[in-house]
Amino acid sequence: MPHSNPRLVSFAAVFEQRVSRRGFVAAAGGTAAIAALGLGAAVPAAQGAARRAGDASDLPRLSPSREDALLLAAGHRYDLVARWGDALWSREPSLTAAGIREGALLAPAAAALQARRFGNNCDAIAYFPLDGRSSRRGLLCVNHEYVRPELVLPGLSSKGRRQALKAMIEANAGLVSTLQAAHGVSVLQVERSARGRWRFVPGAPATRRITANTPCDISGPARGAALLQTAADPAGIRALGTFANCAGGKTPWGTYLTAEENVDDYFGGATSWAAATDDAATVEAHRRFPLFEASVYGWDHSDPRFDLRRNPREPLRCGWIVEIDPRDPQSTPRKRTALGRFSHEGANTILARDGRVAAYMGDDDKFEYVYKFVTRDRFDPRTPDANRDLLDHGTLYVARFDADGGGAWLPLVPDENGPLNSAAGFHDQAEVVIKCRAAADRLGATPMDRPEDVEPSPVTGRVYIACTKNDSRERGSRRGMVSGREIDRGADAANPRLLNEFGHVIELTEDGDDAAATRFRWSVFLLAGDPSVQGSRFLTRTEELLPGRLERGDTYYAGFTDPSRVSPIACPDNLGFDPEGRLWIVSDADSALLGNNGCFVVPTSGPDRGLLRQIASGPVGCEICGCEFTPDGRTLFLSIQHPGEGGSVEAPISHWPDGGDLPPRSAIVAITRDDGREL
Ligand code: FEO
Ligand code: CA
Ligand code: CA
Ligand code: CA
Repeated sequence: MPHSNPRLVSFAAVFEQRVSRRGFVAAAGGTAAIAALGLGAAVPAAQGAARRAGDASDLPRLSPSREDALLLAAGHRYDLVARWGDALWSREPSLTAAGIREGALLAPAAAALQARRFGNNCDAIAYFPLDGRSSRRGLLCVNHEYVRPELVLPGLSSKGRRQALKAMIEANAGLVSTLQAAHGVSVLQVERSARGRWRFVPGAPATRRITANTPCDISGPARGAALLQTAADPAGIRALGTFANCAGGKTPWGTYLTAEENVDDYFGGATSWAAATDDAATVEAHRRFPLFEASVYGWDHSDPRFDLRRNPREPLRCGWIVEIDPRDPQSTPRKRTALGRFSHEGANTILARDGRVAAYMGDDDKFEYVYKFVTRDRFDPRTPDANRDLLDHGTLYVARFDADGGGAWLPLVPDENGPLNSAAGFHDQAEVVIKCRAAADRLGATPMDRPEDVEPSPVTGRVYIACTKNDSRERGSRRGMVSGREIDRGADAANPRLLNEFGHVIELTEDGDDAAATRFRWSVFLLAGDPSVQGSRFLTRTEELLPGRLERGDTYYAGFTDPSRVSPIACPDNLGFDPEGRLWIVSDADSALLGNNGCFVVPTSGPDRGLLRQIASGPVGCEICGCEFTPDGRTLFLSIQHPGEGGSVEAPISHWPDGGDLPPRSAIVAITRDDGREL
């Protein structure tokens, strides 16, 4: 039975009204013009929402698998759109899987080639329609988060890898440049053929690679701040490149937001620098985003920018949200410092009632926080230029989740009469955003179980927070040092499970359904796990989610009462919404928990609220990222990141996607239904 939910229709209608109240729909040609500005999935849901939002009964589902393949639920198929190493411009050579085995990354011209090829370890995907609101032709922005050395360089294994990598970097002058060129962002044009197959268009006008060496402007309150000044950039206004780009998001004006996440893995020499320096201000700026003597990726062995002893402030120029205009390959990416500096997972936007823009963000580390930025000024759909720097002015908030189901957004603003005063090191907004975690500590924000994607539903406005896992939640009340400050590592209402290996999802409703509100209500939406495990409890009432009383295998599916109909899930990571407003979740778990990572869908409203079903299962060793729909809901783009993790080039444990005995590589895919309908 089709289910109709008037609440869903009304939110989309309210959005249209908000836009048209300012004369935009009439002036600019309605929905097509909104789409031209890249509003993407944020607008058009009304009809579909009424039809299907609460109804999951017709969906097929997969069981968890350990097969080395991208498996899809019955009636679905996928196209491989781009793999690591595919040349983005025509008539240029692509990397081959066999070439990886032969050491292509160590060849003399490897860096220049990689800078014009699809990067490694694809993560976030954002679709920007062309031709108005086309769901058959658009631009994709894709993040390339990191490079796992043993999956791309022959002669390494995960055991003893750091020393072997150091030796390899010291012996190959261009290797770090090649690895840097495999990071960042790709912009590529994709289109769907008359036969329904997706491909990318090499050399299309918007095609672009942004790497760890592409100049980026620093804008917002920290532009020019003393803590961002370096020898190479004494003005503190221009950083080199973006890397560790994890998830992302889109703005209402059609730009891409890429999130710099685990930037701390790239810097070395921290301990010896700290022991020798008298620069207390810089030491304090690093306290809550700690760095180590040995870097994970070894770039510091050949690029002094990544050596703290040479450039102790360089890391402070990383860990930001970066805005990119996908339609202008000449544009300079901008680091939007108003949105704070931390391990940014993503930034997902929605309009507030008065037309200002809210961006929701997670800081993906154990016991870190959830943030929201609200612009000072309103989005102006009639004057695209007026929106260009909206993200430079506004208020950054951090979330406190109260035990009674309420919560507050606490403004991160310097105040001589409050905790963020100059004596505490917060003289101005620049110091607040650079030392964002330390400022949030002082306001009493709630430390969470690794908040990954934080995404508002474009249909209901409710916000979903993927807390991927945190196996350091300890029994009882245990005070201890975590990332440079002392906290209680025990369970709390919003992070109720001890040794939280499977993770959970929180649902947050802003006061007055207004994204600019400073108060909210929240509840646990999903307590992930496997309901079929013997001895585990399938909980159906929120009152049962008692902090510290939940065992490893206990689950809760938004109140859904039939455990035989739901799929098990571990470690939710990225979130997305189809035009009907159903929540899509991709996972990043250790395969020992349930099997390979997958893609899942769950209604958030209606009689099937909580009926979570697995739609895809990835190849061995991968995590799945992306989760981005075309506006018509008929195509879902996913990233298959690091297939074969746990193996090496010589001893691969996955051969996806090239098959045979070839080493694996990351790739993006487009999933459609055989019958061409919405997923
Ligand atoms: Fe890069 Fe939080 O995952
Ligand atoms: Ca992620
Ligand atoms: Ca997302
Ligand atoms: Ca993750």
